[in-house]
Amino acid sequence: MRTLTRTTGALLLVNAAHSMATSASPDLVCVDPRWPGVQLERRAAGLLNACIRAVGGEHVIVPVSGWRSQEEQQAIWDDTLVKEGEAFTRQYVALPGCSEHQTGLAIDLGLASEEIDFIRPNFPYSGVCAAFRKQAADYGFILRYPAGKEAVTGIAYEPWHFRYVGVPHARFMAEQGIVLEEYMEILRRDFSQRPLTVCAASHIFHIWYCNEAVREDLLSEPGSYCQVSEDNCGGFVVTTWR
Ligand code: DAL
Ligand code: ZN
Repeated sequence: MRTLTRTTGALLLVNAAHSMATSASPDLVCVDPRWPGVQLERRAAGLLNACIRAVGGEHVIVPVSGWRSQEEQQAIWDDTLVKEGEAFTRQYVALPGCSEHQTGLAIDLGLASEEIDFIRPNFPYSGVCAAFRKQAADYGFILRYPAGKEAVTGIAYEPWHFRYVGVPHARFMAEQGIVLEEYMEILRRDFSQRPLTVCAASHIFHIWYCNEAVREDLLSEPGSYCQVSEDNCGGFVVTTWR
């Protein structure tokens, strides 16, 4: 059986150089009814909850901030600027229009406590939070702003901010120690003529970059599955697996 999923954007690169299209309208769902204000893209929400359950984190890990509208990101920017000043704001808050929270694919997580810092929630490297980090790639999530990559991401180290990209992509980035900017660059540079092969979750994935919308005949192998993501930089990433 061959399944051709609709074009999705799990690999959208959103940063100061690549703003989010204002026309985008992610398919959002509430992550957990206990926090009705926190929404994520449907598939990302399901896998986030699965990962939290897998590590026994249902009562320990709090979804602090998920999808943000342009207006909300602007309000967070303005408020942080007043309270914390410009240097802090530029380090920890993406420019309105350039936050990947606007994709519905990013989630800030905090350790449950009476007071949770909205901008910099505590998500320690111990206990259930550490277990979540260890498992995250198996559910398609990456730590988006790791220490040491500030010059590449343009954002300070954020141990609480996770981004859904999909399992093979997350596994490859975690194994290689690279961030999304670097991964997309590698795909564009090295994997447009031949695919990157990643083995994950008992599947063999083939991943490649296309300059233009993918032709149907590229997707027509019987017995395989396919997903296409726009990269928000004018290209597409094709992922097939069987
Ligand atoms: N804290 C991240 C960078 C954001 O505002 O999107
Ligand atoms: Zn965040």
